[in-house]
Amino acid sequence: MKTIFEPFRIKVVEPIRMTTPEQRRRVIEAARFNLFAVYADDVLIDLLSDSGTSAMSAQQWGVLMQGDESYACSPSFYRFEAAVRKLMPFKHVIPTHQGRAAEAILFSILGGAGRRIPSNTHFDTTRGNIEATGADAVDLVIKEGLDPNADHPFKGNMDVERLEALLMRDAERVPVVMLTITNNAGGGQPVSLANIRAVSEVSRRYGKPLFIDGCRFAENAYFIKMREPGQQGRSVLEIVRETFSLADGMTMSAKKDAFANIGGWLALNDDDLAAAARNRLLLTEGFPTYGGLAGRDLEAIAQGLDEITDEDYLRYRAHSNEYVGGQLDKMGVPIVKPVGGHAVFVDARAMLSHIPPLEYPGQALAVALYETGGIRTCEIGTVMFGRKPDGREEPGGMDLVRLAMPRRVYTKSHADYIIEVFDEVYKRRKELRGFKIIWEPPALRHFTAHFARL
Ligand code: F0G
Repeated sequence: MKTIFEPFRIKVVEPIRMTTPEQRRRVIEAARFNLFAVYADDVLIDLLSDSGTSAMSAQQWGVLMQGDESYACSPSFYRFEAAVRKLMPFKHVIPTHQGRAAEAILFSILGGAGRRIPSNTHFDTTRGNIEATGADAVDLVIKEGLDPNADHPFKGNMDVERLEALLMRDAERVPVVMLTITNNAGGGQPVSLANIRAVSEVSRRYGKPLFIDGCRFAENAYFIKMREPGQQGRSVLEIVRETFSLADGMTMSAKKDAFANIGGWLALNDDDLAAAARNRLLLTEGFPTYGGLAGRDLEAIAQGLDEITDEDYLRYRAHSNEYVGGQLDKMGVPIVKPVGGHAVFVDARAMLSHIPPLEYPGQALAVALYETGGIRTCEIGTVMFGRKPDGREEPGGMDLVRLAMPRRVYTKSHADYIIEVFDEVYKRRKELRGFKIIWEPPALRHFTAHFARL
């Protein structure tokens, strides 16, 4: 059969409260055209993030009851640790309340003024945590990774030559090499196993530990199985294990590829680094066997990790994004190609070419999608990145709108609705107008800025 359907039945439902375009126009105006300020109840389809928004399985809800809330050495921690180690064979597994807490702990130890930390592309919290210590976050993705139209199966790959050049020049300043799989900031693009092997080899040759930001490790492994020569006969589980055996440690947000609504971890092999991380953890997160999480959260993560490598799930996951992306592409909507693992990225700068970057075409598209169809998306462009530390404003590298797909939450008819809303907005694209910012905070303005229509 050709139809790939959702490989689950629905046992519990959350009603969606219907709204009219007229109501939504009032809502978005009251929110000063900032989608982060819209009440989630006023959203029909929420594609703001795939983080923490997964639907848990009946098994996950079941094991919540087994959460052991002992302060120290809870059995839930050991189940969590075993579930992580089954996929990622690291000696030390340190739970944190979410991914950025693991990053903050790691870079509080390895960062510092004058240091340089390369990655394919650092996610913004990773970059923020590195820069907060005075270190320099260096992005070394291959050139195809920066071109929305370049067709390449692994646009998340690191440019190994540039990594080697950096290490040759600046080795003593580099405490760790990072690799983000999949590359969220670059469109959810995967990294090939060959690239992970090459990055690992170069890092080892220079005596540098390699840490993987593994938020979407299962989606990455599935792309490797589908696209990389020689990998078709292997299970996703095997590919995952090989991926992490090539690294010395990892940071993780369990809010992505662990089907959990909260949680994360730092895992690594080095005993001294682990001891330093646990000392930090005690100050900022909690005791090393719970690290900012309840025992029940640790149980939900352990069970989620058991489910995420299911290849029927991963096939449906990749297919549903490709379906939305493919239909938008057919309609003429410019998207980042190929479609990434967790989201479809629309090139708003190309779609709304009459709106200059400093009038925020991404914001204009995001607002139109909300008004027209109640769909909440996220601008990743000049609003997010345009304000420089010295106060200047300039266009972001791209003006994208991200349609992040929550895991196991929406069905094919929700996808059809998204496509229909796009059809409507695309037809009226020439009528859309840009925005100006009438108030913004000193940093991370996209979360709270106020906009007005031009
Ligand atoms: N690394 C990557 C690649 C991420 O995508 C995220 C979060 C983090 C680290 C931080 O994890 O949120 O648990 O602290 N990404 C979310 C998103 C917020 O919407 O893409 P966290």
